[in-house]
Amino acid sequence: MRISSVFALGFMPAGIWAQDIFEPADFNITQALLKNGVDVSGIPELTGLSERSLSSGCSIACTSLKVIFGDAKVESQDETAYDDVINYFWSTQQREPKPYCIFKPEKSIDVSTLVLLSRLTQCPFAVRSGGHAAFAGASSADGGITVTFEKMKQIKLSGDKKIVSIEPGNLWYDIYTTLAADDLAVVGGRVSGIGIGGLTTGGGISFFTNEYGWACDNVASFEVVTASGIIVNASPTSYPDLYWALRGGGNNFGIVTNFNLNTFAHGPQMFGGQRRFFNTSFPAAIDAFVNLGVNAAQDPKAAQFLAITMGASTGTTVAIAELEYADPVLDAPVFEEYRNIPAFSDTTKLDTLAYFTQQLNNSNPNGYRETFWTASSKLDSQMVQFVFDVSFEEFSKILDVQGIIPANTLQIISVPTLEQMQKNGGNVLGLKPGDGPVFLINISMRWDKTADDARVLKASANVVQRMLDEAKRRNMVNDFLYMNYASQFQDVIGSYGESTQRLKEFAKKYDPTEVFQKLQPGYFKLDGAPVQSWPQ
Ligand SMILES: Cc1cc2nc3c(=O)[nH]c(=O)nc-3n(C[C@H](O)[C@H](O)[C@H](O)COP(=O)(O)OP(=O)(O)OC[C@H]3O[C@@H](n4cnc5c(N)ncnc54)[C@H](O)[C@@H]3O)c2cc1C
Ligand SMILES: *[C@@H]1O[C@H](CO)[C@@H](O)[C@H](O)[C@H]1NC(C)=O
Ligand SMILES: *[C@@H]1O[C@H](CO)[C@@H](O)[C@H](O)[C@H]1NC(C)=O
Ligand SMILES: *[C@@H]1O[C@H](CO)[C@@H](O)[C@H](O)[C@H]1NC(C)=O
Ligand SMILES: *[C@@H]1O[C@H](CO)[C@@H](O)[C@H](O)[C@H]1NC(C)=O
Repeated sequence: MRISSVFALGFMPAGIWAQDIFEPADFNITQALLKNGVDVSGIPELTGLSERSLSSGCSIACTSLKVIFGDAKVESQDETAYDDVINYFWSTQQREPKPYCIFKPEKSIDVSTLVLLSRLTQCPFAVRSGGHAAFAGASSADGGITVTFEKMKQIKLSGDKKIVSIEPGNLWYDIYTTLAADDLAVVGGRVSGIGIGGLTTGGGISFFTNEYGWACDNVASFEVVTASGIIVNASPTSYPDLYWALRGGGNNFGIVTNFNLNTFAHGPQMFGGQRRFFNTSFPAAIDAFVNLGVNAAQDPKAAQFLAITMGASTGTTVAIAELEYADPVLDAPVFEEYRNIPAFSDTTKLDTLAYFTQQLNNSNPNGYRETFWTASSKLDSQMVQFVFDVSFEEFSKILDVQGIIPANTLQIISVPTLEQMQKNGGNVLGLKPGDGPVFLINISMRWDKTADDARVLKASANVVQRMLDEAKRRNMVNDFLYMNYASQFQDVIGSYGESTQRLKEFAKKYDPTEVFQKLQPGYFKLDGAPVQSWPQ
């Protein structure tokens, strides 16, 4: 017994849409499970269970999952496959929560059953795609059910090759190498080991962003499991409000079981790599960075970020320009200013898209303590210079932390990118072309020991606070916080301007009992930051 295929194709009866009621007040979870082919009366642990009545919910939920799906899809704490899943998380903080069990669905309807069982037993859950969110609980459920998609890795091109359907178990490396066989690409992550799930639902900055916008702007449709277990296809014409909410709204509206992305033609090779500078070249690098961002419309095939870091033992400061060009052109005029700056190392060359994402993956290994923080402002070179200075000042305070690698990556959300963000009805991020170019920072710190957490978090918070204060002082404020770069102390959804209230209204319609707020508590929720008080 399957959820009827009319639902899966997105042809919901018009009445439901018109009434603006998605889940009726008398929604019956047991009956919804029956539609999924799960007869609760056949599972002893579940008989007699009514909603919200049990404290041992997770024991019952996990036992039921094993009864329904078999041992291969459910890992308990005593199984070695459980540890393999935990050790796959990128940051060590995410390896700390101990789920009661791990569920590995194979199909969308399995995910639907998981949501319904969680509601029935009140056992919380979290879902993980590539596992690169950094803070604890972002995609892991302490004492609950962590859902991983390693059995959902299909990548399927449409007949006309214009759309590729990608299940959430895929990393960008798999996606790019698969599409390369057809000389195609999609707007996705720049680091091979990142998952499609978190990157796309949070936004998604790509090498191709000046031309096409962010990853979320290039989703043709989502197949999504909603809070009532109904599987719908959300697109500009089917559930357009849900389609909008999923493009930057994170995990608050459903579990995406298929991302249908627009493809574009992309040859076997492109240009990419890094030019690295010592401090004598910093003023020139800042100018090149700002000019490229301001003039992005002249050649939107170009991409850049400028990362700064400091050697822990030497205190040497370094700036790294990551440069990409979508076509295989070694000397694109748009990079001339960067090329004229003396670099102590230059790795730029022609190679495949997958290759460049592997290079960036190599500099972001698994298994360390990690934190990301973000802030944004209007752009000018004084502001960039200010961020260089305060970053190095704060980095220098924590250079004695064992294993510390401090970094701040500076990016520009260009006007052409902001224009692309308006297509398909716009995304939720609340950014308009008139706001641009936007200056966006991503502080990322890596270190070894829990004992040093407080100091590293404090230094990161200081960089953010000082940049925001400066933006205010100079009348250059932009409130936007980018979910995929934010720390647990930042209120991402609250930074989206007018979108914030709309998102809350849509959540009332699609998730009236707040399943994705309460039963999936991890990551950025609709009301406030995950952790309220900033590091002291
Ligand atoms: C090394 C590194 C490089 C990065 N590079 C980039 C980059 O180039 N561009 C960029 O924009 N960002 C980048 N990021 C940030 C990245 O986008 C976020 O960390 C993102 O959350 C990672 O996605 P994931 O699927 O790997 O993470 P996960 O930890 O698996 O998921 C993150 C969040 O998304 C939710 N989620 C995952 N799958 C689904 C789904 N199918 N349906 C609903 N919710 C889901 C999870 O519940 C979780 O809350 C990078 C991060 C790192 C660590
Ligand atoms: C839900 O449906 C089941 C099966 O039809 C029924 O036994 C149960 O009483 C219903 N629950 C509620 C709260 O209506
Ligand atoms: C540049 O770095 C060198 C070596 O690390 C240092 O001695 C010098 O003071 C720095 N110059 C500036 C302007 O920061
Ligand atoms: C990324 O790097 C990690 C090492 O930290 C490695 O385990 C992983 O396989 C790499 N991912 C991809 C897709 O290459
Ligand atoms: C932020 O930038 C650094 C480069 O300094 C990169 O290693 C890291 O993956 C980025 N973090 C995120 C969340 O993108």
